[in-house]
Amino acid sequence: MADPVIVARSLSRTYGSGPTTIHALREVSFDVGPGEMVAVAGRSGSGKTTLLNLLGGLDQPDSGTLQVVGADLTALDDAGLSRLRREHISYVFQTFGLIPALTASENVGVPLRMRRMPVAEREQRVELLLDLVGLRDHAQQLPGELSGGQQQRVAIARALADRPARRRDRRGRDGAAAGHRGLRADHGGRGHPRPDDDGARRPRPHDRRRPGPRLR
Ligand SMILES: Nc1ncnc2c1ncn2[C@@H]1O[C@H](COP(=O)(O)OP(=O)(O)OP(=O)(O)O)[C@@H](O)[C@H]1O
Ligand SMILES: [Mg+2]
Repeated sequence: MADPVIVARSLSRTYGSGPTTIHALREVSFDVGPGEMVAVAGRSGSGKTTLLNLLGGLDQPDSGTLQVVGADLTALDDAGLSRLRREHISYVFQTFGLIPALTASENVGVPLRMRRMPVAEREQRVELLLDLVGLRDHAQQLPGELSGGQQQRVAIARALADRPARRRDRRGRDGAAAGHRGLRADHGGRGHPRPDDDGARRPRPHDRRRPGPRLR
């Protein structure tokens, strides 16, 4: 079996000290395998965000060990953590985190700019990603001009844009495949996201025969 991408052992994180100490995480251990889809569920205040902050290298545990794609997160310095985040970790934030002054298209392109991808390649990738999330006709709108669900899909496209090129080259279908699975769930099990109601073209029966957009 392939090595796990996440190995968490006895992770603990407390906030505060003395009688007001909050044990947000106590001795949490688990593995996540490559390609495995995992949902973290629990009541409000049970430690989900605390755990995700640790997994993303945004915070450090008080005790325990955490490996992400083979790197010991507790041993990395700031530069090492930044590299790990850039190459392996994507978040879709609850609040989407879109840059208000940039169009949908420019928002999706931000991680690609940071990777210094050539302009033509970047524009092609962004177009494909917006198509994948059903926003081809909304590329030039600002976040404030998009619906909540559309903003969320821009954030998903941006998170997919951020997938490391290495995996894409090796596996061919990469994060788009994972994103596609996620979108199937989001869009009632259909293979493609459905264009929304405000002016976008509705899918016609023959559309189902078209191959879906793929990243290369
Ligand atoms: N910076 C902080 N300082 C002190 N206590 C904190 C801090 N951040 C979180 N906590 C506490 O740690 C516990 C876990 O918080 P966390 O944000 O991880 O919960 P959650 O499962 O994400 O909740 P929700 O579903 O409401 O988002 C809570 O009791 C919270 O009050
Ligand atoms: Mg939370």
